[in-house]
Amino acid sequence: MVAGNLDLADVLRSSIHAAAEAMNAEACSILLKDPEADALRFHIVDGPQTHGLSSAALPIDDHSIAGWVANHQEAVLIPDAYGDARFNRDWDLRTGFRTKSILCAPLVSQDRQVGVMQILNRRDGRAFDEYDLVLSQAVASLIAVAIHNAEEHEARLRAERLATIGQTIAGMAHCVKNILNGLRAGSYIIDQEMGEADTSKVARGWKIVKKNMMLLSNIVMDMLSYSKERKPLYQPCRIGDLCEDVVGLLRQQAGDKGVTLVTSSDLDEVCADESGLRRCLINLVGNAIDACSAGGGLVKVDVAAADADGRFAIRVRDNGCGMEPQAREKIFDAFFSTKGGKGTGLGLAVTKKIVEEHGGEIRVESVLGQGTEFALVLPVKPAGAASG
Ligand SMILES: Nc1ncnc2c1ncn2[C@@H]1O[C@H](COP(=O)(O)OP(=O)(O)OP(=O)(O)O)[C@@H](O)[C@H]1O
Ligand SMILES: [Mg+2]
Repeated sequence: MVAGNLDLADVLRSSIHAAAEAMNAEACSILLKDPEADALRFHIVDGPQTHGLSSAALPIDDHSIAGWVANHQEAVLIPDAYGDARFNRDWDLRTGFRTKSILCAPLVSQDRQVGVMQILNRRDGRAFDEYDLVLSQAVASLIAVAIHNAEEHEARLRAERLATIGQTIAGMAHCVKNILNGLRAGSYIIDQEMGEADTSKVARGWKIVKKNMMLLSNIVMDMLSYSKERKPLYQPCRIGDLCEDVVGLLRQQAGDKGVTLVTSSDLDEVCADESGLRRCLINLVGNAIDACSAGGGLVKVDVAAADADGRFAIRVRDNGCGMEPQAREKIFDAFFSTKGGKGTGLGLAVTKKIVEEHGGEIRVESVLGQGTEFALVLPVKPAGAASG
């Protein structure tokens, strides 16, 4: 079905209207085949009385002219509709239109039946002639090609959309599967060691479980933040404490890799959506830890005081691997990741979205092999925050 494709509907409407004008006709219509209902449906109707026709269905059988043409795949010229046994008067009763002469041609493209085209009544009262019939068949074949092309285009777009959704889901599933493997490994150690006097192995298993639960919770939170439009909930926020919190949350992950986390703040209180900024920082600090090589890694989180424009900056700097310029171009695209099954590629897309919803901007500087700095530049008092 092509119903719903506005561009195509416009093309069909103007082509059949032009054809009807050329033949000095009062009314015209295009009916498309609805394969599910094995019927024709009015798709374009143009004329003085079209009320009640839009999307109305007509069986493909010999009890109407359009049904007969679709059934037999043959164009017809009917000089006197009421004198033809196939003519169905119900449609005239329904619309109040009085059909006299009809041209009806099948719409067939590459041996596939797509519908029929009808042209009704010459304005000068005469019946249509053989010349009009040939012209209507030529117009019908052009219309059928346009419909066929539009359907192919739709099908291609649908296939591309499905492929993208498929790839995204496959990437996510792979990432979640790896985390679940971690959870299973941690739970297994706990199971094995439960009841033993030595609790150190239980503690190790529990640490693995906690780490993977946090990873899973981050993915779910990122998916939620990315999929929903959200107005920030501005509240007074002690920004230095928030950075300390996030660093505390990721200290174990950093410690396991020998990465040192430090934080400092020049600023006391700002007005911000705390849970949104927390998500941004978890993503930036998490990425910075990932970028550091094992041992010797350093990640600094600094809050710099407001500038003349009333904006403050949170900077997350690491001495990790840095980025290739080509990767740098794509990092804010959803699902771009260089981490294989260990990343969904949603972290920075979500961070950017939250920062922009917050009236701020995100900047990045990176030197391959030396490190990266992300800066979130945000208003101290965002527009939309309650004054006072
Ligand atoms: N500090 C950084 N240093 C080097 N590369 C980085 C840094 N931060 C991000 N990147 C690059 O940007 C990519 C996208 O980051 P993003 O946070 O969106 O996704 P991810 O970390 O791969 O997965 P996740 O959705 O689990 O966070 C990363 O895969 C990485 O290649
Ligand atoms: Mg990330």
